[in-house]
Amino acid sequence: MRAIVITRPGDADVLQLRDVPRPEPVADLVRIRVHATALNRADLLQRRGGYPAPFGVPADIPGLEFAGEIDAVGPLVVTLRPGQRVFGIVGGGAYAEYLITTERMAVTIPDNLDWLQAAAVPEVFMTAHDALRQAHFVAGERVLVHAVGSGVGTAAVQLVRALGGTSYGTARSPEKLTGARDLGLDVGLAAATWSDELAASNQQVDVILDFVGSSYLGANLNALAPRGRLVLIGLLGGATAEVDLSVIQRKRLQIIGTVLRSRPLEEKIVVTQAFAKQVVPLLARGAVRPVLHRVFDLQAAAAAQQYMEQNANFGKIVLRVTA
Ligand SMILES: NC(=O)c1ccc[n+]([C@@H]2O[C@H](COP(=O)([O-])OP(=O)(O)OC[C@H]3O[C@@H](n4cnc5c(N)ncnc54)[C@H](OP(=O)(O)O)[C@@H]3O)[C@@H](O)[C@H]2O)c1
Repeated sequence: MRAIVITRPGDADVLQLRDVPRPEPVADLVRIRVHATALNRADLLQRRGGYPAPFGVPADIPGLEFAGEIDAVGPLVVTLRPGQRVFGIVGGGAYAEYLITTERMAVTIPDNLDWLQAAAVPEVFMTAHDALRQAHFVAGERVLVHAVGSGVGTAAVQLVRALGGTSYGTARSPEKLTGARDLGLDVGLAAATWSDELAASNQQVDVILDFVGSSYLGANLNALAPRGRLVLIGLLGGATAEVDLSVIQRKRLQIIGTVLRSRPLEEKIVVTQAFAKQVVPLLARGAVRPVLHRVFDLQAAAAAQQYMEQNANFGKIVLRVTA
């Protein structure tokens, strides 16, 4: 099969299209013929050698999500059959024509999504949904989503709206705030001034979904209402910070760190099944939708990753694998 291989750690030109052996499904594994996959920030880190693949997935083929059809099943597979349309997350190996995964990590794609739209869904909607669950978000709460034009941000703002919350979002460009408003963002804030704007209007939020990290930490704690929850999903602005612990103590705040790829399989199955139960019906009736920014062909994966490095995307960058 054809796959994009990380030939050595480095810049995007280390990615090469190669012929590699097609994986075989055993036990409860299914083989997926991948029609489309999508980019994630972690792919860039992995390519540079900073985010090794977990045990059991190809070490040198990136790709954390897929949309495709079941091609073959192992003898212990109970529910899925060849030909079914499924999408989901994997620990790696999705920049390829075929991949294997366990049947409990493959979710039926709603009929209203084509392959490219479906590939723009799993990682960002599972991450955002799982983060809201970990924060014990309930309808009526206010949620601040940083980098609201990111893939995860565009999923989060739609979920907050669909689940009955009020959304606040930051971005470094006015165009991304406008795009987020079209997805249902209630309050858009410029990244340079968001904390002053909230303080000036005496507003606080109950939950913050943060991808920026250290440079926002102090302001995040100030922006939270008593018993607020900060979920650290990404650290694009740095990982080391000094913090006034008395704010956390006085307001009884919670800081929750989360990752997806390196969690145990059983936890990822729980995340996947919660997504199947609560998010897929929202997708099926159009209450939330994939935000597909740009499509590249699989062989142009290097150009796609360079594009992501420019921070220009609003929503997902998708790779078309098979027509
Ligand atoms: N923990 C998990 O389970 C998990 C899962 C998936 C993703 N993530 C993380 O979530 C984050 C978003 O991922 P994604 O795939 O959605 O990314 P993405 O679509 O590439 O969007 C990232 C956006 O973040 C903003 N940004 C970049 N550097 C920034 C900085 N230093 N300060 C402020 N904003 C910055 C940029 O938008 P603006 O122009 O608007 O600033 C950029 O477009 C990444 O850190 C990723 O690693 C974590």
